Amino acid sequence: MKHIDFHTHILPRADHGSDSVETSLKQIELSRTAGIEVIVATPHFYPHRHALDKFLSRRSLAAAEIKKHSDSNVIIGAEILLCDSLDKLTNLESLCIENTRTLLIELPFWDFRQEYITTVDKLIGYGYSVVLAHADRYPKDNIEKLVNLGAKIQLNASALSKFFVKRHLYEWIDRGLVVAIGSDIHMADKCAYKKFAKARKRLGEEFDKIMLESEKILFSK
Ligand SMILES: [Fe+2]
Repeated sequence: MKHIDFHTHILPRADHGSDSVETSLKQIELSRTAGIEVIVATPHFYPHRHALDKFLSRRSLAAAEIKKHSDSNVIIGAEILLCDSLDKLTNLESLCIENTRTLLIELPFWDFRQEYITTVDKLIGYGYSVVLAHADRYPKDNIEKLVNLGAKIQLNASALSKFFVKRHLYEWIDRGLVVAIGSDIHMADKCAYKKFAKARKRLGEEFDKIMLESEKILFSK
């Protein structure tokens, strides 16, 4: 069982998560101190703001830089902001996590519309697996609507390391819906991986089960 950080912003200048190769290398070093063996790099993709081809070339340049300077196991993905008709985006599959059919999707904070439910339903219908990024941040009922369609959940370690953890996060874990944990690290934030280690300790065996689910997503063909 590998320790996998499923949600990070560690690619230099691919988004606001890292301003340089040096910062990215510091982030990777911090991940090692928390025992992370695999990092999924998930720079933000905002469909209303980014041209996909430009995003992809920026991301691949950044990934090449990291691979040149570090031997850590970094898998390339994206954190995609959900919008109406995301399912119609040309070349959407290029936003899947490397070698998978999995999309890491974040919901907008400001509203939740029926169109989002329809879009996620279509994505799943087209054969994509949808993992909801930091589901801990949103109203439980909205997440439930998407989970009912077959979406899975990624939780941020910060939500699991708090003194008071929201009870429904444990319920989601018990129901087998949580398939990934992320540091969601931006810049060389030392706390991000302390929180990851704390979440691991707190969840015990449940943490291992979640890591196995992440492993299945990333490595089973
Ligand atoms: Fe993120």
